[in-house]
Amino acid sequence: MTEFSVCTGRAPALDFPCIIGGVYADAQLPRSTVALDKACGGSISKRLKAKDHDGNHRNSLVLFDLPNVKAERVILVGLGKKEGLDCNTLRKAADTAWRAMKNLDVDNAAVLFVDEEVKDATLEIKARLIVESIVEAGYRFRKSKLKSGRSSSRTEPRAKIALAVTDRRKVKRVEQGVRQGQAIGEGRNLTRELGNLPANVCTPSYLSSRAKRIARHSNIKTTVFDESQIKELGMRTFLAVSAGSRKSAQLIQMEYAGASGKTRPVVLIGKGITFDSGGISLKPADHMDEMKFDMCGAASVFGTMYAAAKLALNINIIGLVPACENLPDSRAIKPGDVIESMSGRTVEILDTDAEGRLILCDALTYASQFKPEAVIDIATLTGACVAALGHHASGLFANAQALADDLLAAGERASDRAWQLPLWDEYQRHLDSNFADMANVGGSSAGAITAACFLSRFTKDYPWAHLDIAGTAWRRGSKKGATGRSVGLLTEYLMNKAELS
Ligand code: BES
Ligand code: MN
Ligand code: ZN
Repeated sequence: MTEFSVCTGRAPALDFPCIIGGVYADAQLPRSTVALDKACGGSISKRLKAKDHDGNHRNSLVLFDLPNVKAERVILVGLGKKEGLDCNTLRKAADTAWRAMKNLDVDNAAVLFVDEEVKDATLEIKARLIVESIVEAGYRFRKSKLKSGRSSSRTEPRAKIALAVTDRRKVKRVEQGVRQGQAIGEGRNLTRELGNLPANVCTPSYLSSRAKRIARHSNIKTTVFDESQIKELGMRTFLAVSAGSRKSAQLIQMEYAGASGKTRPVVLIGKGITFDSGGISLKPADHMDEMKFDMCGAASVFGTMYAAAKLALNINIIGLVPACENLPDSRAIKPGDVIESMSGRTVEILDTDAEGRLILCDALTYASQFKPEAVIDIATLTGACVAALGHHASGLFANAQALADDLLAAGERASDRAWQLPLWDEYQRHLDSNFADMANVGGSSAGAITAACFLSRFTKDYPWAHLDIAGTAWRRGSKKGATGRSVGLLTEYLMNKAELS
């Protein structure tokens, strides 16, 4: 675990074994690095003129024993083009800084660039993003842990990092950002760990036990409903999905009470399919292993609630996770089956691979009892969303524009973006069925939208938004793994709610 702090002082005089400064692509120096360069008689600008650093955010350059600089080592990290320095580049630069530290075996450093001008970012947000990025860079999936069947989101050996500011009056705000960055970074790492765990370890009941463990260490109460209790609640479309699995479905309820009992809660609902084979409508074999990530929405709810509790936000939050597997079996649901949902409306299941909406619709109905101020569901819902938006933005849908606007803005600030897609009435007709109130799929076009249309039918009681994180929740290729995306957006949204209350 990395320890973070805030320090003040002129860069050359900072008493650290290592200091980390920025350089821009056009060989320009940020204010904070200029002081260093002056102290050592221009050694840094000389190296830049010699093109030893191109300013790219992936690159770093190490200088030793600069004259009149107290720190033994100076690491220079690229910040890209000066005019273009935005939140994403800042994050990446912080990540590069951390890697350079690790390569040099440095475990104590001061970072100078929190004071740089960054597009659309306040001081708190800059501090937060730097810390968030470093906390995340420390995450490793520990393969050896699997042998004992246990796992943890614990990070690498200890390191100390201070964010340096020259003006004492800024310390409080940077400290606030550091606290937020730590909470969000740790929340994201928890989300990534749960996503990365294989489906033979991360089962529905494993998710329950993790939810209970989170409750033990924070101001959260966890209640778990097993299959017989879910049946009593009448969540029949949820149970229909679980019918092909030998593992018991779990409905996980996490309650965080940071405000008075009278305050209406924000309800977060996470899709918790621990493995999605498609069921009888079996998926192709290619990349099917990635369907262990189909519980990343659930993991985002865990990570967000963890962060909210750690920040002691003065709001009420309820996390709901319907968790089960989607597998083919003689008891599994079949295409054409008609199931009555908890709401009383019937659904013709034309494709058993459209299972996410079936477990979510009952959870949305269940959520009404909390008289929520807002309900947000988070789900790896459709391949169509990946086709539409790729891997950069999560898909956003809402039945209340004010809520959509808040979430879009939160995503922008947290550099965890979402993009809104329409829920126009014309799309609702795609779900017409001759044999039930609705079909669970809407044909080959606009798949992300018709999935959201399906969900919207169960959200008449409250403002609701849906985040389709199918394209953002994990990466493919050599960096394959869960990203923790949507924890930043959601925590930012909740922090703003807390400030307003
Ligand atoms: N979990 C998948 C969505 C998914 C697929 C996410 C690929 C990321 C990558 C979901 O349950 C699903 O299978 N959706 C179907 C819906 C279709 C049958 C209408 C899909 O997207 O193909
Ligand atoms: Mn599916
Ligand atoms: Zn799925």
